[in-house]
Amino acid sequence: MDLVLSDKKTFVTGASSGIGQAIAMKFATEGAEVFILDLNEEGGTKTENAILEAGGSACFHKLDVTNPEQVQDLFSQLGPANILVNNAGISSIGNVENTFPEEMDRIYSVNVKGVYNCLHAAIPGMKENGGGAILNMASIVSKVGISERFAYSMSKGAVFAMTLSVAKDYLDSNIRCNCLCPGRIHTAFVDDYLEKNYLDNRDEMFDKLSKFQPIGRMGKPVEVAALAVFLCSDKASFITASAYDIDGGATLLR
Ligand SMILES: NC(=O)c1ccc[n+]([C@@H]2O[C@H](COP(=O)([O-])OP(=O)(O)OC[C@H]3O[C@@H](n4cnc5c(N)ncnc54)[C@H](O)[C@@H]3O)[C@@H](O)[C@H]2O)c1
Repeated sequence: MDLVLSDKKTFVTGASSGIGQAIAMKFATEGAEVFILDLNEEGGTKTENAILEAGGSACFHKLDVTNPEQVQDLFSQLGPANILVNNAGISSIGNVENTFPEEMDRIYSVNVKGVYNCLHAAIPGMKENGGGAILNMASIVSKVGISERFAYSMSKGAVFAMTLSVAKDYLDSNIRCNCLCPGRIHTAFVDDYLEKNYLDNRDEMFDKLSKFQPIGRMGKPVEVAALAVFLCSDKASFITASAYDIDGGATLLR
């Protein structure tokens, strides 16, 4: 069988839920040895069990990506990765006036510093190993203005910029670094947002959010996972410093 990620040691952050969970599961079906790194133990164990039951290789480790010592210790313990998927992320609603310093710090600590912590800890091992592939989870907001997403846009713009910086600095180390820019993908991320902000008109908002994508619906985590597999596989050997839209046309079909 042609498994495109055979024996690739892969770290996926935020793999206890949503897009990260789908990526962990899809990577395992493609032969990767998957390490599920997340704060959420219950979801992480579920993901691990689902992969093991399907005959794949997976191991959950509790990790807070905001904690540099924890990231460094765990990555040293696990040894060099062939693939790093920086997917853990949190959302934030608001404009610049009603986004306060604590919220900026909260979003920065996970979505920016968390990505930095994992890049900083993973790259030396990848270099020693002769190379690797890194995929960062950016967003449509890295490229287009979306209302009421001030702090979140700041963080995803930084993910895009970190992707280019790493891609450039490690060309000679054979490390490819790309990011994905998803539009709305139907995960707990979206459900929690609707629950918190639109309890009384959830269905109406769900419909509105779906129609934001010209294709007329939200994306599915498995659709993001399929692109992630390709970009992290050797089939994408000529692709680095790219920011892939996966958004049902939302960025370019306004
Ligand atoms: N769902 C969307 O519409 C959408 C669109 C564009 C980009 N994204 C991005 O995709 C990524 C995944 O989103 P999702 O929709 O699957 O969200 P999700 O909430 O379903 O999953 C996020 C995961 O990250 C984990 N996490 C949060 N903080 C963490 C920390 N400090 N350390 C370790 N793990 C942590 C959570 O426990 C959770 O398992 C995020 O970076 C998000 O910004 C999502």
